[in-house]
Amino acid sequence: MSVLSSTSKNNISNNIIGLAPMEGVTCLASRLWFSQTSYPDFAMTPFLRVTRDYPWKRVASTYAAEIFDLKKCFNYDLIPQLMGTSPEDLERIATPLLSNTSFVDINCGCPSPKVVGSHAGSGLLEKSEVFSNFVNGLESRLGEKKFSIKMRSGFTSDEEFPELLKIVAHAKISQLTLHARTRKDRYTGKARWNLIHAASQECSFPIVGSGDITDFKSFQKLSQQAPNLNKFIIGRGALRNPWIFKELREKTSVTISNQVLITSLATFAILQELVVRDSQKLFNLIERGDFLSSCDTNEERWENLYHKLSNALFGDYIPTAKLNVERASFARVKMIWNSLRSSLPEKFMEPTLLRSACFSDFAHSFMGLCEKKEILLPLEYKEQFDWIYSGAKNHEHENQQRHN
Ligand SMILES: Cc1cc2nc3c(=O)[nH]c(=O)nc-3n(C[C@H](O)[C@H](O)[C@H](O)COP(=O)(O)O)c2cc1C
Repeated sequence: MSVLSSTSKNNISNNIIGLAPMEGVTCLASRLWFSQTSYPDFAMTPFLRVTRDYPWKRVASTYAAEIFDLKKCFNYDLIPQLMGTSPEDLERIATPLLSNTSFVDINCGCPSPKVVGSHAGSGLLEKSEVFSNFVNGLESRLGEKKFSIKMRSGFTSDEEFPELLKIVAHAKISQLTLHARTRKDRYTGKARWNLIHAASQECSFPIVGSGDITDFKSFQKLSQQAPNLNKFIIGRGALRNPWIFKELREKTSVTISNQVLITSLATFAILQELVVRDSQKLFNLIERGDFLSSCDTNEERWENLYHKLSNALFGDYIPTAKLNVERASFARVKMIWNSLRSSLPEKFMEPTLLRSACFSDFAHSFMGLCEKKEILLPLEYKEQFDWIYSGAKNHEHENQQRHN
């Protein structure tokens, strides 16, 4: 348990709230950034796809750095997640991880057609015998409580859930994370927290609730539907409001200054770039303890961290208004911005910022929208934008295409 989570955080609340695994999002650089915005109690890596040939023995040093050389340098715990179909292959990669962490999580929920097509992710839920054999295989290869499962409520319908739950309830796993939607739902509709509650009544291990926590109000409402739970993860809600973990701890919405917002996004850009271009320089800063405490909503702390990272990457301090990073790093800034803007006052939803060619253009347009040099920005969840983040439109579009 990290320094912060065993002291201040647990005194504030008994709930343990983590950053959900998100493929394409929760890589090391992003996890570090979330530790600075509002420090979740724990984070999960995105799934690492494991096949017979990949990865062969070693995983990339940045995949789960928090549990290897850089252990104890963070204010959050890390759960590595693997995805595969063969317990034997998963054992090969899980074994070195397990010498550094108490359990690994196994993805049985990814709905992507490519993943399901190879019978991994939520494809494992399609036939209950397949799922049962898979879980038994993992248990005999990895051992009791050496793995956890993250799954959906079914493949096509919630009616499959009781059978799937029976299989996991009998397994000796360390925890079950339930995203209570089916594979067919993808991210549309609402997560069924009554099923999460049902799981908590059937299982002797902890259940982690997942789905639709977007602010303190929704957290209160959903957690009341599953009153036995004290562990939760937040995915899209954290993209829409990266300060959500603070909101939940303090039970009130968060306001940040425009300077904090732009400096934090510039920090995000540099973190992405450092991981790719010079991870050793980043590791040196981490080892020095620069990520042990959080910048939170404090302008000076963000400025200090940005300064150090800018020096590490460029050998100099580059003001945010002049910052330029590689396309791939800037694309990640846009990805965060695309979600974050929905929590800001409505004028920030306008699309020109997403069309910026580089970070300095983005910073210029952002400050232009602010009108004054210093303004305060309330971060508020707005239900009217849910459709953007549920993929509902794409889904309907796909259905339409299938019928045409
Ligand atoms: C972009 C994206 C990527 C995701 N990648 C993963 C993943 O790698 N592993 C996993 O178990 N779940 C993944 N999920 C599912 C989330 O962890 C979470 O269970 C789901 O989004 C519901 O929670 P939310 O409403 O808080 O987003 C992903 C979700 C999103 C939106």
